[in-house]
Amino acid sequence: MKKHNVLIGITGGIAAYKIPNLCRLFIKNSYNVKIVMTENATNFVSTLTFEAIIRSKVYVNEFIEGSNESAIEHINLVDWADIIVIAPATANTIAKIAHGIGDNLLTSLMLVASNKTIFICPAMNTRMYLNPVTQQNIEILRKRSFFIIEPDEGELACGDVGPGRLKEVNDIFDLINKHVNALDNFKGIKFIITAGPTIEYIDPVRFISNRSSGKMGIALADYASLMGGEVLLIGHLLQSHGKLFNTIIIDKAIEMLELLKENVKKYDILIMAAAVADFKPKNVANEKIKKGEGLILELEENPDILKELSKLKNDRQVFVGFAAETSNSIENARKKLIEKNLDMIVLNNVLRQDIGFDSDYNEVTLIFKNNEILQIPKMKKSEIASIIVDKAIEIYKSKNV
Ligand code: CTP
Repeated sequence: MKKHNVLIGITGGIAAYKIPNLCRLFIKNSYNVKIVMTENATNFVSTLTFEAIIRSKVYVNEFIEGSNESAIEHINLVDWADIIVIAPATANTIAKIAHGIGDNLLTSLMLVASNKTIFICPAMNTRMYLNPVTQQNIEILRKRSFFIIEPDEGELACGDVGPGRLKEVNDIFDLINKHVNALDNFKGIKFIITAGPTIEYIDPVRFISNRSSGKMGIALADYASLMGGEVLLIGHLLQSHGKLFNTIIIDKAIEMLELLKENVKKYDILIMAAAVADFKPKNVANEKIKKGEGLILELEENPDILKELSKLKNDRQVFVGFAAETSNSIENARKKLIEKNLDMIVLNNVLRQDIGFDSDYNEVTLIFKNNEILQIPKMKKSEIASIIVDKAIEIYKSKNV
């Protein structure tokens, strides 16, 4: 197996003390490791600590006194790297990378690393993390196809409680390692994923819709592309996610159906996370309906997209649906699994206030064609997404041995 080269960038956050363990994990698992630190990072952990672990020089300054090494030569570090991991990534370094500022060795290297696989592991005070400017900078990087390994929530060094704690280094390593192995094993698996609500117009300014933030579908697309899958995400008002995956924006269920009918044959795995509006106004007014006289809406049913697509499904494909239920959940979800010819259905209880709609968390039950059931406890949608995609890939592999 190829030994992968990982360049770890360490910036000046308290979580830097966790990075020796991350380095050990990479080395133990046969990765080659090189390290670049910012000056500030060396205030938290010395270069000597890391040099003892990786048994080679740690790079800090662009111009090293008494040597001929220059920033230009350090560009070789980027050429050497298969993967770049910045952990912890402070708000400051994230901002610099997002805006093309190269005022130290690490940020200068990032200016020449645009074609690399880069993982950013933010860690900072909760208020800094939630500050819109930091969120916007993270979004800029996401759009540029950086993989963001989101921080955990919990008590931070400063005493604040909330998101901002560096993800556990074991989890960081697992995600990156999985990505590397998935790239070797699953490259080329094609996912078509739907997300968010559909909207059905009443007139040019009004519509009816379903409650849905689209977060689950986006998390699925994020993870599937992180695993090396080729992803097309279809939905309403989704932001473009750069070159990580393609996005097509639609409004109405009927548009979603047409797009899927046109494309589904080219894909291996379909995940229908969209909250499709079951009903649409029978007549759509061309002009804004004036108030004053009341309005009685006549609705008609939208087509069932999954049912329509099941007619086009071939034996090699995996179809995954969701079931939004309020009662008789397992029974209803099973019925949908069969009627829509699915391989797996993800059951949500949509009455719970603490999870689901708009939340970053959910608690779901996976139900499989062979009647197997897997309960997933409450966890982040990003983590649930990884379980769903892993299961879908497992089923895909079993169908395509
Ligand atoms: N779905 C679909 N087309 C529709 C409605 C739903 O393809 N017109 C898909 C959803 O994306 C989801 C699955 O079918 O993957 C189940 O959706 P859900 O809303 O739970 O159930 P419905 O089939 O709409 O049935 P009901 O509303 O009666 O529970």
